Amino acid sequence: MTQSSEELFQQARERLAGGVSHESRFKGPHPKYIERAEGSRKWEVDGKEYIDYAMGSASLLLGHAHPKVVAALTEQATKGTFFADCHPLEIEWAGLIQELIPSAERVRFVSSGTEATMLAIRIGRGYSGKHKILRFEGHYHGWHEFVDLGMNAPYDKPTSLGILPGTVEATVVVKPEPAAVEAALAADEEIGTIICEVSGANYGSVPLPEGFLPELRRLADAHNAVLVFDEVITGFRWSPGGRQARDGVTPDLTSMAKIVTGGMPGGAVGGREDFMRLLDPQVEFRGRTPGVTHKGTFNGNPLVAASGVAALSEIKTGEPNKLADHAAERLRTGMREVIQQHQVAGAVYGESSTFHLYLGDDAADGSVENLGAEKIRGIPKPVINAMQSGLRKRGVDLMSHMSGITSMAHTDADIDETLNAFEDTVQEMIADGHIGGH
Ligand SMILES: Cc1ncc(COP(=O)(O)O)c(C=O)c1O
Repeated sequence: MTQSSEELFQQARERLAGGVSHESRFKGPHPKYIERAEGSRKWEVDGKEYIDYAMGSASLLLGHAHPKVVAALTEQATKGTFFADCHPLEIEWAGLIQELIPSAERVRFVSSGTEATMLAIRIGRGYSGKHKILRFEGHYHGWHEFVDLGMNAPYDKPTSLGILPGTVEATVVVKPEPAAVEAALAADEEIGTIICEVSGANYGSVPLPEGFLPELRRLADAHNAVLVFDEVITGFRWSPGGRQARDGVTPDLTSMAKIVTGGMPGGAVGGREDFMRLLDPQVEFRGRTPGVTHKGTFNGNPLVAASGVAALSEIKTGEPNKLADHAAERLRTGMREVIQQHQVAGAVYGESSTFHLYLGDDAADGSVENLGAEKIRGIPKPVINAMQSGLRKRGVDLMSHMSGITSMAHTDADIDETLNAFEDTVQEMIADGHIGGH
């Protein structure tokens, strides 16, 4: 007999720490256990079907189990999954990245997005010779030591136990505003690296101010700081060449993960040759060869490379981005209409293939532009829970908070079904007193 998600979670709690493999997968009262997924859909162990707007934590721009990715994985699996040697596919994979993201003059593969930002920061420190980094309030760059401070408010306290005081001392956290960046760089000559989540915090739920990235580039140059764009989410999504291609602003280093692997574990750092040269085992830099040491058993793994090549070859055509963007645009427009019709105060926003919902009187003009991170992230938990669970019981799964991600597999019929579920949920929330409206 099939076990329910609730039953599986009881077992999981006896075997996995906290019952989960990633703390955000815990959703009260228990997480969902998914058995399979295809296209825009996924199925829970009890057979319940969801339209999925988490899409492999935003890694599946082509949708679940895309036939070309599955074929590439299957073929590579028969040839061997890991050689502990170099192999031709990693060159092809890096070539596709170079083609789509020209600032990635050289690429080094890593095993996660966390490792990508960790390596980019280490290169930044090695190149600049300065130990401090500048980062932005609420931006997420993975869970490693270098980027713990600043991930969540209060921004002057580590998020976790076990963080070294030296890490805190080496991290300057500011609001993503040009004046704040300029002041911090002017005040502290030890800042040599700047890292930014180029969607704005949490895949754009707190958008960056207009014109921020060109200013950041200018200020990094003026203060000789290495500029890292964290494109783990935006890479290959905001456009086939990421946010940097869409906006024409070029970083020194780019961290990538998620889509770059076609939804497999892994990631990459790409950047200008003179920065990436620090990783060259034959080149000396500041008395060390290589300047920056970097290892990792599964970096550039053949199975992951096969999936990455298959996915990026599709994305190169521009078609997946067009379809995913269209689905998100339809969702944003439709959700906006629903809240307006029911006179619910709030805003629906987001770029590219993302959507975010803010509910509250302070966005009565339908915009979050002047709200700031605290307000946007301060939506009461019961409201978020009511939205998430209302949609979930109607077969729609969000990625986090009141936000989601589309893929090329989301059809117009999926969007219609989602909008119906959304309207029913909004009506239920009004009836239950979670939000105003009628
Ligand atoms: C912008 C950004 N950077 C880094 C990471 C960390 O990537 P990973 O979870 O693969 O370690 C994430 C993950 O969501 C992310 O969104």
